[in-house]
Amino acid sequence: MLIQLALLLLCYGVGNVHCVHGNSKELQSLLDFKQGVTTDPNRALSSWNTSVHYCRWSGVICTPTQPWQVSGLNLTGKSLVGEITSSLVNLTLLSQLDLSSNSFSGQLPPLGGLQLLHTIYLNDNSLDGTIPDALTNCSNLVNLDLHNNKLSGVIPPKIGLLSNLDYLDLSRNNLTGVIPPTFPNLTHVSFCKLKSNQLEGSIPDGLWQMSNMGQLSLGNNTLSGEIPQTINMSRLQILGLELNRLGKTLPSNFGNAVPSLIRLILDGNMFEGHIPVSLGNASSLELIDLSGNHFTGQIPAS
Ligand SMILES: *[C@@H]1O[C@H](CO)[C@@H](O)[C@H](O)[C@H]1NC(C)=O
Ligand SMILES: *[C@@H]1O[C@H](CO)[C@@H](O)[C@H](O)[C@H]1NC(C)=O
Ligand SMILES: *[C@@H]1O[C@H](CO)[C@@H](O)[C@H](O)[C@H]1NC(C)=O
Ligand SMILES: *[C@@H]1O[C@H](CO)[C@@H](O)[C@H](O)[C@H]1NC(C)=O
Ligand SMILES: *[C@@H]1O[C@H](CO)[C@@H](O)[C@H](O)[C@H]1NC(C)=O
Ligand SMILES: *[C@@H]1O[C@H](CO)[C@@H](O)[C@H](O)[C@H]1NC(C)=O
Ligand SMILES: *[C@@H]1O[C@H](CO)[C@@H](O)[C@H](O)[C@H]1NC(C)=O
Ligand SMILES: *[C@@H]1O[C@H](CO)[C@@H](O)[C@H](O)[C@H]1NC(C)=O
Ligand SMILES: *[C@@H]1O[C@H](CO)[C@@H](O)[C@H](O)[C@H]1NC(C)=O
Repeated sequence: MLIQLALLLLCYGVGNVHCVHGNSKELQSLLDFKQGVTTDPNRALSSWNTSVHYCRWSGVICTPTQPWQVSGLNLTGKSLVGEITSSLVNLTLLSQLDLSSNSFSGQLPPLGGLQLLHTIYLNDNSLDGTIPDALTNCSNLVNLDLHNNKLSGVIPPKIGLLSNLDYLDLSRNNLTGVIPPTFPNLTHVSFCKLKSNQLEGSIPDGLWQMSNMGQLSLGNNTLSGEIPQTINMSRLQILGLELNRLGKTLPSNFGNAVPSLIRLILDGNMFEGHIPVSLGNASSLELIDLSGNHFTGQIPAS
């Protein structure tokens, strides 16, 4: 009844707001989200009351035209505790979701139906459970940051469907299994951090030809296998593979295949053989860490 009353007030009390069913659904979805927040020590949601139109609530961003619908929700760093309710799936025009650096727990909400989602920042919370395969339905997703949570299970096998993805950070979770074979389909990805999980198996060969990759951080997993001769990553600036079980020799053309490399971090693996002479051709290198391997021979003059 309170909600019905509130809706009436919203519809008739705010002259310039055209009240349609879509809007009341948005309001209900946000009120449900607020219900999921159990502790709000800084009163970050104090403006979230029905005497104010929800487009003026702190952290709520609306479309610029009628019917005003929620296009963004940004409550980063507000010390919120609770669970992220599945009601968010009713915010059909949601494009930016930034709830990073709070204390949200429980599972990821089912965001799979939100076709316009562009950015998901849920990093630095305490979310657990798995990354749902349905998330790969968000075909417009460009930024996905879930780092520093307690997510477990595998990286969705269909992740390759996120063809617009540019920024991916799943580091510091408890993810298991392999880097999915579809991963190299993410041809737009320029930033990829999967470090500090429990990923195993070999790195898909195609990943070494992802031509837009600028930073690739796969350290602190249990990845095995080798770096293939077919590597070709002209934009790669940072490569972190430390603390894995990667091995054999580095390809002889390595330095030519990564001409933009600035940081090369390979410590704590099982690499052997000579340091390739071509490494000297990666003339931007500022940091090289090859410690804790089985390299032999001389450091090349190059
Ligand atoms: C609702 O939010 C407005 C804006 O922050 C505030 O001025 C008002 O006191 C709030 N009303 C209630 C009942 O909390
Ligand atoms: C959310 O707001 C913060 C500032 O409070 C800003 O730095 C951040 O970029 C915003 N997030 C998104 C996704 O725009
Ligand atoms: C979405 O809205 C419909 C009504 O419009 C409601 O029945 C449904 O429970 C809502 N879904 C969630 C997950 O809150
Ligand atoms: C999303 O993907 C899942 C499986 O990946 C599928 O079952 C579902 O029908 C898709 N659509 C929506 C709207 O979630
Ligand atoms: C990956 O890309 C290839 C060729 O571009 C395509 O045939 C395949 O269906 C894609 N797979 C996935 C899971 O995206
Ligand atoms: C990670 O998952 C394993 C089971 O796969 C579990 O035993 C372990 O406690 C988890 N670690 C954390 C930090 O959640
Ligand atoms: C490696 O990852 C584990 C969790 O899987 C974490 O506890 C540990 O601090 C990480 N170590 C380093 C050196 O990053
Ligand atoms: C490496 O990739 C670039 C495009 O990113 C391509 O132009 C070039 O021919 C490739 N080089 C080799 C040796 O495959
Ligand atoms: C270094 O680059 C030059 C110019 O591209 C090439 O001729 C040379 O063979 C490369 N050195 C090695 C060891 O690959």
